[in-house]
Amino acid sequence: MSKPNVVVIGGLMTPALERLQNFCSIKQWKKENDIPRDILLEWVADAEGLIVNNSVAVNEELLQNAPRLKVIAQMAVGYDNIDIEACSKYNVPFGNTPGVLVDTTADLAFSLLLCSARRIHEGWDFVRENSWALGHKLSFGIDIAGKTLGIVGMGQIGAAVAQRAKAFGMNVIYYNRNRRHDDDKIGAAYQSFETLLNKADAIIVLTPLSQETRGLFGREEFRKMKSTAYFINVSRGPVVDTDALVEALQTGEIAYAALDVTDPEPVARDHPLLTLSNILITPHIGSATVETRTAMAQLTVDNLLAGLEDKPLAACVNASRIIGKE
Ligand code: GLV
Repeated sequence: MSKPNVVVIGGLMTPALERLQNFCSIKQWKKENDIPRDILLEWVADAEGLIVNNSVAVNEELLQNAPRLKVIAQMAVGYDNIDIEACSKYNVPFGNTPGVLVDTTADLAFSLLLCSARRIHEGWDFVRENSWALGHKLSFGIDIAGKTLGIVGMGQIGAAVAQRAKAFGMNVIYYNRNRRHDDDKIGAAYQSFETLLNKADAIIVLTPLSQETRGLFGREEFRKMKSTAYFINVSRGPVVDTDALVEALQTGEIAYAALDVTDPEPVARDHPLLTLSNILITPHIGSATVETRTAMAQLTVDNLLAGLEDKPLAACVNASRIIGKE
C-alpha cells in the first residue's frame, strides 16, 4: 500500500520527523524564506496531510486546492493564521499543541518581567562593553515583590504565570473575556480591563490574536497605565498597536516594554522599536526549549497521523464541527 502524501512546512524535531517518515511520503519546505504560495498550492494538490507553521495562511483558497486533504496540524498553540471556519466547511480537522508548552511559555513571560525589572541585559551590555571605567551609569531596576501584576488572557499559561508571580510575592489581578470560576485557587482577582490598566505595575499579555484582540493595546490603553508600568507581550504582535507603544515608551507614558512577539515580525534593523533604550525584545521564543519543542513536534505528528486514519485528533480545535470522522 502506498504511503499517504504529507506536506511539511518548516522544521520538526528529528524523533517526530522520523516517526512521520515511517508512515508517510513527505515533501518538506526547509528553506528560511517562506514557501511561495504557488509552490504551496501545487504541493497540497495531492496531499492528504499538511503540517504548517504560522507563516502559512490556511484559508478557503488553500483548502479548495487540496481536495484530498484529511488533516492539518500546526506545531503551536496559537492558530490566528488558520481559517477554522473554512477547515470545518471542508471537513478538515485542525490540530494544535496546547498543554505541552504551558510551563515553558510561562517561564519566558516571567523571565521577561524579571530581566526588565532588574535590567539584566543592560547589565550584560555594560560588562561586555567594558564600561566599568565610565562610572556607574546603569539605571536601577525595580523590586517586583509587593507589586501588582495584571495578566490579560487567563488561560493555562496565564494561570502558570500567576503561580510564578505569587511565588515572587506579587499581587495578581487579571482580565479575561470570561471570569474563571477557579480564580481563587489561582490566586488572581478578576478586574475590568480598565481597572487592570490603571492598577497594574506590570502587565503580561497572553491573549490569543482574534478580531476582538487585534489592536487591543493602543494609545488610549497606554495612557491609562501607570507611568511606571512594565508592559510585556508574549501573545501575538498585532494585539498591540506598535506605533502607539513606541510613542508611549518615548514619552514616558509607560516605563518599559519587553516583547517576545512584535508587529511586524521580524523587526527590521531600522525599526523605531530598536532605537529605544527602555525595551527588551526576544525573537518569539516562548516555547523554544529542547524538551518542549520535542513534545510539540510529537503532538503535531500524533494529530497528523490520527487525522490520516480518520481518528479523533489528540488536540483538535474544530472537533465539534467535523462530520463523520469519529
Ligand atoms: C507560539 O507562538 C505558539 O502559538 O505556540
